[in-house]
Amino acid sequence: MCPPLVAEDFDVTWGDGRGKILNNGQLLTLSLDKTSGSGFQSKNEYLFGKIDMQIKLVPGNSAGTITAYYLSSQGPTHDEIDFEFLGNLSGDPYILHTNVFSQGKGNREQQFYLWFDPTADFHTYSILWNPQRIIFSVDGTPIREFKNPESIGVAYPKNQAMRIYSSLWNADDWATRGGLVKTDWSQAPFTAPYRNFNSLTRAGNNNSWLNEELDSTSQERLKWVQKNYLIYNYCSDVKRFPQGFPPECGIGSA
Ligand SMILES: *[C@@H]1O[C@H](CO)[C@@H](O)[C@H](O)[C@H]1NC(C)=O
Repeated sequence: MCPPLVAEDFDVTWGDGRGKILNNGQLLTLSLDKTSGSGFQSKNEYLFGKIDMQIKLVPGNSAGTITAYYLSSQGPTHDEIDFEFLGNLSGDPYILHTNVFSQGKGNREQQFYLWFDPTADFHTYSILWNPQRIIFSVDGTPIREFKNPESIGVAYPKNQAMRIYSSLWNADDWATRGGLVKTDWSQAPFTAPYRNFNSLTRAGNNNSWLNEELDSTSQERLKWVQKNYLIYNYCSDVKRFPQGFPPECGIGSA
């Protein structure tokens, strides 16, 4: 079998040549310099799916940069499922920021450190999105599960098809240590490669992912990550929610 071709699934959509498809369509690279970042998007739209992408993050001094990889629909009441990687000074840890929007409402952040150096090699970042749950995984280890909270009256993404987007951009007003550390443009261009995109969709012939849930081993792994690598959870931010946490926090969805 041939390796999957990212070129078949994605179009580079902005960045004036800073996003490139290389190696006969097997590798996609985004780059950022002082003038512009870059980005790509999927040719297809997905209504539920299980997607994997291997990404190698910007090495060295990546402070101020953000590499985003997410699903999103369009419009003011859009749904969105986000991975964002916030860069850092050489040797300091990236933050993996996650969020879930339903019907235009987000503010459901969880942030993590990773248990490896995400710039040394490619790692697999996955989103499982089915009618019951959204599971974010890293190298097959679940880091976050957002359960469908409709039974308690909170909207869940399930009616709007989403595209996959990725971008590399400058956000030194907030990305690194809350905006204290600025992008060092003498290090530009900043570059991140992507490869081995895989997707399971309803058009496929193996639909078991549509009902997939975490087995007991995966639940243990999730607990391990949440105990050791979770650095921010909106569901425990008392200062931000003095009147009480959002309702989905109470059902262990988050
Ligand atoms: C960057 O490193 C500092 C110091 O270790 C840490 O506090 C911060 O969480 C790291 N990540 C980001 C994105 O700021």
